[in-house]
Amino acid sequence: MAIDCAIQTFQSVSSTQDILRELAERGAAEGVCIHALEQTAGRGRHGREWVAGEGNLFLSVLLRPGCPAREIGRLSIVTGLALVETMAPLLHEPGSLKLKWPNDVFIDGKKCAGILIESALKGGNVDYAVVGVGVNIAAGPLPETTFIEAHGVKVMGLEAFRDLFLQKFGHTYSEWQKGNFAEIREGWLRHAQEKGSKLLVKVGDKAEEGLFDGIDEDGNLLLLLPDGRHKVIVAGEVYPL
Ligand code: BTN
Repeated sequence: MAIDCAIQTFQSVSSTQDILRELAERGAAEGVCIHALEQTAGRGRHGREWVAGEGNLFLSVLLRPGCPAREIGRLSIVTGLALVETMAPLLHEPGSLKLKWPNDVFIDGKKCAGILIESALKGGNVDYAVVGVGVNIAAGPLPETTFIEAHGVKVMGLEAFRDLFLQKFGHTYSEWQKGNFAEIREGWLRHAQEKGSKLLVKVGDKAEEGLFDGIDEDGNLLLLLPDGRHKVIVAGEVYPL
């Protein structure tokens, strides 16, 4: 069953994540979706700011997957795949689109979209997850970022793009819920950075270098260490070298 999205659109909010988290705490149902045309305090991962560009997408969706906490990493993979499948047909060179673990989307080496997942647990399971998606459609607000329209067609309208993403996201999410994560993982890997790319991974204050070797069945990063061992990274900051 695909999720039924109930979209609320705002002209300007601090962060769509904050609004939806509050609704989630008050018991809002899966599928509630907050869309803002402008964010004044958009958040990225690791406490970073998500800078708003005019005409870009700022969206948060509430999910209640009820899965064990250790499976939450799969949600990044589900979301990333839905995002690239929405974006790729709009680009002149769809192959220039790359997913970088855990949840960045790059075009030609520049960041174009990001995903922020904030979750709450109950008894070892995920009570809710607020999936925040920021897509640079019409503007790349920082020099190290880019936007879809710089590499492809003029996007048919923010709402049409949003609805297409939500449709793909709902479908991919329900495939995961039906137990088909293996195919989602394969799809994600087809759009991912090349295996063997050099990475620097920071977990807390520890940093380690290795090679990207895909993701495991829970969506965790597989880092190939110089001594040939694999390290499973559940959460961390990842930089290309
Ligand atoms: C990242 O790449 O660090 C994640 C960026 C996530 C940005 C989106 S925009 C909509 C939602 N609201 C926020 O405040 N952040 C997410």
